[in-house]
Amino acid sequence: MQHQIQKLNNISKKESRKILGLMSGTSLDGLDLALCEVSGHGKETQLKLLAFETHDYSELFKNEVREVFSKQTVSLEKLCLLNSWIAIEHATIINAQLKKWNVEHTEIDLIASHGQTIYHAPKRQHQQNGFENSTLQIGDGDHIAHHTGIITISDFRQKHVAAGGEGAPLAAYGDYILFADKKVDRILINIGGISNLSYIPADGSFEDLVCTDIGPGNGLIDAWVKEHFSPLKYDVYGKIAASGNVIIELLEAMLKDPFLKSAFPKTTGPELFNIAWVEKIILDNAIKIENNEDVVATLTAFTATLLSSAIKEFTTSDKQCEVYISGGGVHNKLMMKMIQTNSPEIKIDTTEVISINPDAKEAILFAVLANELVAGDGSCFGNGNKSAPNVGMGKVSFAG
Ligand SMILES: Nc1ncnc2c1ncn2[C@@H]1O[C@H](COP(=O)(O)OP(=O)(O)O)[C@@H](O)[C@H]1O
Ligand SMILES: [Mg+2]
Repeated sequence: MQHQIQKLNNISKKESRKILGLMSGTSLDGLDLALCEVSGHGKETQLKLLAFETHDYSELFKNEVREVFSKQTVSLEKLCLLNSWIAIEHATIINAQLKKWNVEHTEIDLIASHGQTIYHAPKRQHQQNGFENSTLQIGDGDHIAHHTGIITISDFRQKHVAAGGEGAPLAAYGDYILFADKKVDRILINIGGISNLSYIPADGSFEDLVCTDIGPGNGLIDAWVKEHFSPLKYDVYGKIAASGNVIIELLEAMLKDPFLKSAFPKTTGPELFNIAWVEKIILDNAIKIENNEDVVATLTAFTATLLSSAIKEFTTSDKQCEVYISGGGVHNKLMMKMIQTNSPEIKIDTTEVISINPDAKEAILFAVLANELVAGDGSCFGNGNKSAPNVGMGKVSFAG
């Protein structure tokens, strides 16, 4: 057997694997690195987070990516260059981080790399005849494997799309493996640039699970803060929002967006929800803005309202349900308070309560997906469902 395939085969048979999960979402804030020790597969998966770090992106990195990020028209040359450049940047970050952790490259079995999402185009959004759902993450896996010497699993979303999904959210697979409970319904929400939800009914099979994007998470707040409160990049702890007043007229106008009215499951991205979307609503409705703090307060209330109504949709008063939130949004104290106030009958916690670092959760979930690809048999996902087909996700890049 070819040496590299033999190596992968040995990794798949190991009692436990060290997998470095990487995540970089639409917030473009940084690269999350979660070093995990994973044993078993499917419902028998055991995962221990050995180390976690977010490497903040440099302004140069952000500016380069912004040239193509969620833009309809870009330089094809730039896109081509970025595909390898981002991967090399990520490999450099990985190599430095392993050194910092005092971990040898040879100790790592696999890298699970999400890549950088640069465009998300579900059919509901692009509406072009003859074209299906589509999504694009760049930062090529072969480059990461070559520059780190570690077998890299990457580009997870394409198989999901190939099997009829929208390529997002993928959290449902790992959420089901790690958090399904025999007795209580559980809702896992991640608040990144975009927010998503997994609903896992008690003692349910994977087919019963619902996974969907909800709508914007921190994305619009970040965009408004960057534009009007420079050099701030986001509303630290929700302090700006706390000093403003919600503009009810704007909140109500934003809630009328057709995407938000359409039924779950659905997916979206900054291609739809961006600062121009907010400005257009303000203009179209001739809404008077007295200060930018009020807009930040309104955008915060907007995300909180969307999350609360999603929680409401999946909960009934006669069944116990636990809600656990992850992602950078958990640090926005005002938003978390608003969600709890809107849902007084339900206890809202962060995933910290179930022993998962909320900042690390998404990167951990990609380590779980890589583990499933290499060591799983897919049986725990049964027949899958429309929003979460049962397929092995990720492409293998050998390090030779
Ligand atoms: N201390 C904080 N206070 C308020 N918001 C924060 C804080 N730390 C992070 N965030 C928010 O979390 C975002 C990053 O969240 P993250 O889960 O990494 O999203 P993504 O997956 O889109 O990269 C930041 O852009 C910011 O909006
Ligand atoms: Mg991030």
